[in-house]
Amino acid sequence: MATSKICKFYNNQNVFITGGSGFVGKVLIEKLLRSTNVHTIYVLIRAKKGHDAQKRFDDIFDSIIFDKLKSKQPEFKNRVVPICGDCVTNGLGLSEGDKERLISEVNIVFHVAASVYFDEHICKAYTINCKGTENVLSLCKEMSVLKVFMHVSTAYSNCNRPSVDEVIYDTPVKYTQMENLVHKSTMEEMEKLTPKLLESWPNTYTFTKALAENLIQDNYGNFPLGIFRPGIVTSTYKEPLENWSDSNSGPNMVLRCASLGYTQIFSANHSKIEMVPVDLTVAALIATAWDVYFNQNQQQLPIYNYVSSTDNALTVHEFFLLICTQLRNYPSNKAVWVPNFQTIPGSPVTDFLIYCYHLVLGLSLDFLRLFCLKKPKIFLGMIKTHLAMTRLSHFGNREWTFSNKNVKEMWGQMNETDRNLFNFDIGSVQWVYYLRNYFKGLKVHLMKENLETLPEAKTRLKKLQFLQNGMHFLVIFFGISTIFILMLKFYC
Ligand SMILES: NC(=O)c1ccc[n+]([C@@H]2O[C@H](COP(=O)([O-])OP(=O)(O)OC[C@H]3O[C@@H](n4cnc5c(N)ncnc54)[C@H](OP(=O)(O)O)[C@@H]3O)[C@@H](O)[C@H]2O)c1
Repeated sequence: MATSKICKFYNNQNVFITGGSGFVGKVLIEKLLRSTNVHTIYVLIRAKKGHDAQKRFDDIFDSIIFDKLKSKQPEFKNRVVPICGDCVTNGLGLSEGDKERLISEVNIVFHVAASVYFDEHICKAYTINCKGTENVLSLCKEMSVLKVFMHVSTAYSNCNRPSVDEVIYDTPVKYTQMENLVHKSTMEEMEKLTPKLLESWPNTYTFTKALAENLIQDNYGNFPLGIFRPGIVTSTYKEPLENWSDSNSGPNMVLRCASLGYTQIFSANHSKIEMVPVDLTVAALIATAWDVYFNQNQQQLPIYNYVSSTDNALTVHEFFLLICTQLRNYPSNKAVWVPNFQTIPGSPVTDFLIYCYHLVLGLSLDFLRLFCLKKPKIFLGMIKTHLAMTRLSHFGNREWTFSNKNVKEMWGQMNETDRNLFNFDIGSVQWVYYLRNYFKGLKVHLMKENLETLPEAKTRLKKLQFLQNGMHFLVIFFGISTIFILMLKFYC
C-alpha cells in the first residue's frame, strides 16, 4: 500500500490548537496523536470557573475518547503541552516564554476556539469569534516556520443565503464597524441594536462567524490559510469509539430535553439536516491543512464546506424519527414526564400551539407536584427549553444548498492509505447503523447516566406512564362530561 501523504506532511511537525478543551478540539487532539507522528501539540487553554489552566488541561485527557490512545501510546502526554492563555486577550495573554516558543516552533495552526451559543450577547460573541480570531492571526504573522493556518468556521456562517458556495460573502456590517460599535456602546445599547445588526442572520453565533471569515480575508498574512466549514457536528461514527459526544448543542440539546420530558414537540419539517459525525469532521479538517499547503498557489483562500446533504442526505424528521424510538429504551432517571417526542412542520400557528401545549403540561405537572408537597419547577423548565428549541427550529425548518467542490477535489487527491486513515467520505456513513445507538451514547457520555441504573429509570418511566394514562383518562372523562352536560342543557 502507498505511504500516507498526509502523515508525511504531519511528520515531526509542531501544531498549535485553540479550543482543545471543546468537543471538536478534543477529537482533533486525539486523532492527531493517534494517527500521525506530530512532534508536539501546543494547546491554548484558559483558567475557568475556579480551575487553573493546568488542571483544565489535565481534565481533557480524562475523557473516554483518550482510552484507546492511552493503551496504544502510554507516553502520549509527552507530546502535548498546555499553553496558558485566552483568545480574547491581546497577544492571547501568553507569557514571554510561551510566545517565543510558539513563534519559533509552530508549523501548523488550527483555530477551533469559539463561542457556539446561539443566544450569546453580541459583544461577547463578537469578542470571542472575531477579536479572538484576529488575535490568533496576529500571533501567526510572527511565526517564523508556519506552514498553514486552518480556521474552523461553520457551514451556517452564511445561513442568511439559500445557497452557499465555497467563497466568502460580504456582510452588510463590517467587522471594523462592529469593533467601533462594541467599543463605543454599552452592553444594553448593543443588545437593543442586535436585531438591526443581525438583519437576516438568525443569531449572534452565525453572524459573528461570518464577520470572522471577512476579517480573515482582509487580514491574512504571508502564509497558506484555509477556512473549514462543517455542518452540524454530531457524535463519533466509529473513531475512537462509537457514539461519543459531550456536546450539548444543536440536536443533542433537543434529544436531551426530549428524554427528560421537557420537550414533547419540536418544530421541524422534511428539510435536509447537515449532519457530520465528529470523527469524520476531524479527519477532513486534518486533511484540509495538508491540502491547503500543497495547493497554495491554486486558490488564495480555499474554503471547504463539509456537509452531508450533497452526498448522503437525511432529513431532520428522519433523524429524530430514527433516534426517538430509543428514548423509552433508555429512559432517564431525571425524567419529569414520559418522552413522547414528535416533530411537526413549523408555522407561526404550530409554534403557538406547541407553546400552549408545553404551557398547559408544565402547569398541570407543577400542580401535581404542589399536591405532593414538592417544589414546582417543571413549568419554568418547560418554558426555558421551549425558548431554546424555538431558536433551534430555525434550522429545522429550512434547507440550504451547499457546494463542496473543494472537499471533493481534496478527496480525489488522497491515496488509498489516506482514505482509510482519514476517512471523511460522508457518503460511506450508514445513517441507520449510526443512529441506532445515538441516544444511548448521549445518555452515557453527555448526560453521564450509568446504564446500571437503567432498571430504576425504567420503573420511574412506568410510574410516569401510569400517571400519563391517568391524566388522559381525566381529560377524556371531563371532556365527555362537559359535552354531555352542554347537550343536556341544549335539549332540555
Ligand atoms: N459543534 C458543532 O456542531 C459545530 C458545527 C460547525 C462548526 N463548529 C465550529 O467548531 C468549533 C468548535 O466547536 P465545539 O462544538 O467544539 O465548541 P465547544 O465545545 O463549545 O468548544 C469551544 C472551545 O473554544 C474555547 N474557547 C472559547 N472561548 C475561548 C477563549 N476566549 N479563549 C480560549 N479558548 C476559548 C473553549 O474553551 P473553554 O473550555 O475554556 O471554554 C472550548 O475549548 C467552533 O469554531 C465552532 O464554530 C462547531
